[in-house]
Order: sequence, then structure tokens, then C-alpha cells
Amino acid sequence: MASTVRAVVARSVKAPVTVQEIVVPDPGPGEVTVDVAACGVCHTDLHYREGGIGDDYPYLLGHEAAGVVEAVGPGVTGVEPGDFVVLNWRAVCGECRACRRGRPQYCFATHNATQKMTLTDGTALSPALGIGAFAQRTLVAAGQATKVDPAADPAAAGLLGCGVMAGFGAAVHTGGVELGDSIAVFGCGGGGNAAIAGAALVGASPIIAVDLDPAKLAWAVGFGATHTVDASKHDPVEAIRALTGGFGADVCIEAVGNPAVLEQAFFARDLAGTVVQVGVPTPDMALPAIPMIEFFGRGGALKPSWYGDCLPSRDFPLLVDLYLQGRFPLGDFVSERIGIDEVEEAFRKMERGEVLRSVVVFA
Ligand SMILES: NC(=O)c1ccc[n+]([C@@H]2O[C@H](COP(=O)([O-])OP(=O)(O)OC[C@H]3O[C@@H](n4cnc5c(N)ncnc54)[C@H](O)[C@@H]3O)[C@@H](O)[C@H]2O)c1
Ligand SMILES: [Zn+2]
Ligand SMILES: [Zn+2]
Repeated sequence: MASTVRAVVARSVKAPVTVQEIVVPDPGPGEVTVDVAACGVCHTDLHYREGGIGDDYPYLLGHEAAGVVEAVGPGVTGVEPGDFVVLNWRAVCGECRACRRGRPQYCFATHNATQKMTLTDGTALSPALGIGAFAQRTLVAAGQATKVDPAADPAAAGLLGCGVMAGFGAAVHTGGVELGDSIAVFGCGGGGNAAIAGAALVGASPIIAVDLDPAKLAWAVGFGATHTVDASKHDPVEAIRALTGGFGADVCIEAVGNPAVLEQAFFARDLAGTVVQVGVPTPDMALPAIPMIEFFGRGGALKPSWYGDCLPSRDFPLLVDLYLQGRFPLGDFVSERIGIDEVEEAFRKMERGEVLRSVVVFA
């Protein structure tokens, strides 16, 4: 029997989101239903509501979630009812050319549930990032649900589903940051601070946090930054060079989504260093006009990072374990817990920079 649950829906471009009843079908082949325990509010949810991602309204928002598997469809073997899972937006296919080459983190054919969740009048919903988890129950592909230790706080664990994983992986996977590397992180929101926490975990030094907002820089220190640069007062390129013996950092991470900041990250890097692009540009942005001789002469790499080049089946259980052991501060990304009716208010707090993550919790 399909179930009817309350959920957060963006009905049309720029309209405030509404909480309404939606219909969640029973899982079909390869699908699972998950009773959502907690789901973080991410910028991407606001981008959907603003029309920045597409025009497939109505959108069912929410995608940074943890919960308990309610039912599994035919052929599902990886999870079973009662499992505590974190949802992901890159369920790998196992068959595309990336997967076949042993690089599933780059899978070119990730998949979602085939059936549609709907409004009660039958209108099909577009779930944010193929998840849609500001809902008491949701339907996903089985590969989108990764089993983790149920001792974890769902509000914290769910954040691995997007921004925290993207930031952590940008440093550790894409940037390859390791013991003794110097790193600079531009933009200390949820993504940037997760990169800082990842760099701290693997023993990078120094870890330089760059932001325009002193409050964000104070948070960055809490996540492991050893130095901070207020880019509203100082040239970050000069400051980073000064903090790294005049050379620049081994790895610079752009976690803002701004061409001018990408240019700063490029020049704040040591020879043969790596720039990692985490911030998502808007379609009107162009790469900064960097002379090709600078690109060639400095060597190294410029690497976009999608979802931190993560592999949920490998990374989610590990990061939850590190969190439960007190070695990765996942819980510190939870700024507040809110009800399902408070998502619009959470968008405002996010825009004012007052929170790292507001997390919707379900009773
Ligand atoms: N690559 C991925 O897979 C992925 C996944 C999730 C999010 N993202 C993107 O990562 C970016 C960061 O996400 P977030 O949730 O941390 O956002 P956020 O808004 O919380 O953080 C951005 C930070 O950048 C700072 N900032 C703004 N302009 C700056 C400047 N000129 N110099 C230095 N700092 C500046 C802000 O003060 C803020 O602290 C966004 O573009 C988001 O869309 C990417
Ligand atoms: Zn694949
Ligand atoms: Zn997100």
C-alpha cells in the first residue's frame, strides 16, 4: 500500500515552499522506502526553489538525510528493513565505462528510483538530487541507501549525504591532502569547514582558512584551521604566501563558487600544487583570465570535485565510525534542529550566514 506523508514541496519558481501531503509508492524492483529521521537544509535546496537548477516543478526538496529502511523491493540485497542508512545522490551503476575501469567514484550513469512520488492529485514530483527527503518517508534506489552504525545521531550522519562529504572528499580524495601538506581553504561554510576538518584528520599543516566573515573564520578554527585570513581586509594570496615560507600552499580549495576566488586559489598555490574547485558556478560564470604561461609554468593541477569524488559505500561507514570515535567532528556541523514547517526560515538563516546546517528532524 502506498503511503501518504507530509513533505516540503517547491511548487513554482521563487514561491515559498509549502508543507503538503505526498504519496510514496511501495518500493519496486531495486528500490527501497526509507523513514527519514533527519535531513539537513542545503543551498542546493534553495537553488531548486529559486529556479537555478531546472524547471521541473513541483520539486520535493531535501537530500542530506539519514533514516531507517522501511521496506525493500524485489531483488534488493544490500539493505533490509530496519537498517540505519545515509542517503546519497550518486548510486553507482557498476556497468558504465568508469565503473568497468574500476573507478566507480566517477560513474557516468548513477541512478535513482524509477517510480515517481506524487502529490495527492497524482502530479509527479521531481525529488531534489534524486532523493527528496524533507518527507517522513521517501523512495530511492537501493544503491542510494548506505548502511552505517545506528549509534550515530541521524542529524549528524545525514549531513554526509552532501556538503560535508563534498568538502571532506575535496581535500582528502580530489586534493589528495596528506600528512604535512599545506592547505588553504577559500570559503568556510559547511563545505569549506568539512575540507578543513578532513585536512586536520590526515595531519595537514598549516591549514589556512579564508573567508570574508569573521564568524565563519572562528568556526573554521573550531574545525582545525591553524591560521585564518580575513579576505575583506587582506589580500589572501599574499597572506597565504607569507604563511607558507613565501611559496604558497600545496593544495588550495575553492569552496565559494566565484571566478575571482578561483583565481586567488590559483595564485596562492605552490609550484606543482593542486587547486580543487568545490564551489558550484552559475552558467554565466567564465574561468578567470589566467595567462596560459602561468598555467603551464606553475605545473600542478586544477581539479573540479563532484561530491568529493566519494564512494558512499566506502566513505559513509568510515566517516560515521571516525565521528563515533571522536576523530571527525560531524556533529559540529549541526547548528540547529528544526521542524518540517521551518525550512523557509532556515533558508533565511542560511542566507544571513547564521548557520552551518539547520537540520529538519522527524519525530
Ligand atoms: N562540488 C560539490 O559536489 C558540491 C556539493 C555541495 C555544495 N557545493 C558548493 O560548494 C559551495 C560552498 O557550499 P557551502 O554550503 O559551504 O556554502 P556557504 O554559503 O555556507 O559558504 C560559502 C562561504 O564562502 C564565503 N565567501 C563568500 N565570498 C567569499 C570570498 N570572496 N572570499 C572568501 N570567502 C567568501 C562566505 O562568507 C561563506 O562562509 C557552494 O557553491 C555549493 O553549491 C559543491
Ligand atoms: Zn557506472
Ligand atoms: Zn546539498
